[in-house]
Amino acid sequence: MAVLEVDRLVKRFGDVLAVDDLSFTVREGEIFGFLGGNGAGKTTTLRMVLDIIRPTSGTITVLGGSPDRRQAAAIGFLPEERGLYSGMSAIETIVYFGRLKNMDAGLARSRGMDLLTRFDLADRAKSDIGDMSKGMAQKVQLATALVNDPELLMLDEPFSGLDPVNQGLLENEILRASERGAAVIFSTHVMQHAERLCDRLLLLRKGRKRFEGTLDEARAQLPISLTAVAKSDLSSLRGVARADAGEPAGDGWREWKVALEPGVSPASVLEHCTANGIGLRRWDERRATLHDIFVELVGGEGVQR
Ligand SMILES: Nc1ncnc2c1ncn2[C@@H]1O[C@H](COP(=O)(O)OP(=O)(O)OP(=O)(O)O)[C@@H](O)[C@H]1O
Ligand SMILES: [Mg+2]
Repeated sequence: MAVLEVDRLVKRFGDVLAVDDLSFTVREGEIFGFLGGNGAGKTTTLRMVLDIIRPTSGTITVLGGSPDRRQAAAIGFLPEERGLYSGMSAIETIVYFGRLKNMDAGLARSRGMDLLTRFDLADRAKSDIGDMSKGMAQKVQLATALVNDPELLMLDEPFSGLDPVNQGLLENEILRASERGAAVIFSTHVMQHAERLCDRLLLLRKGRKRFEGTLDEARAQLPISLTAVAKSDLSSLRGVARADAGEPAGDGWREWKVALEPGVSPASVLEHCTANGIGLRRWDERRATLHDIFVELVGGEGVQR
């Protein structure tokens, strides 16, 4: 079932076309990576889903209806700009958000304690948010997004500011939400998180969709990168592959960057080498990473290794 359907969405801010004819669907139980460089239109899109801002044109169907703040009870949102009120304890903050989402205070409190325990913050439940470190406060804010067991979980840059252990905790929470059937959409500039988590992903560039599909489909957008170390001149591979001479590798060996001709598999290049007596000392095949695809399709801006 589609939890979120975006159809031909457009958002203009004066002269800036922030979202340009964008369509995509996120289904129950799906983890959807919403990726793009700085200023691509990710946050603007999420804000329209939440009815914080209105589209210029196009339609959004969320949980079967138009965006409406009353849907908050079934949505969890971690905004890009973090910030909770200091002066309130972690657990009181979570209960407060639970109440805003029409939850019973007792249930919000017990779910809140479960979340704080999973986030390794149980001993800080009564600490004032203002006395917490940035990452701790962010985990409390994440708990406010999760307290209502949302059907749609939207996380805007949730990994930024978390240490590697807490990034792992967050990955587990995302998987857990999807396992209980929630649709999860998250933005990130760190491609490894998307690679580990996403069922499908969308790459946005200047408001326009550049790619939507699975990770395997994304990888198929770029050729496999091949490196060979040979003694002979690999320009003789003509017909099956093009090879450019790289660095010398000692004792007359040299590294070659090999680019396959269309429709040729790496295995058939190896067969060609064997059949023609071309000795190889090394043969590396590297599939494109999401990082490579991002840089290729979206440009180098806004990506972290
Ligand atoms: N309230 C606003 N008024 C004017 N322009 C805006 C407003 N909000 C966003 N924009 C513009 O819309 C474009 C998209 O911004 P948005 O915040 O959606 O990008 P983003 O993909 O979330 O980027 P980042 O990765 O940096 O968070 C930018 O050019 C931005 O300047
Ligand atoms: Mg943003």
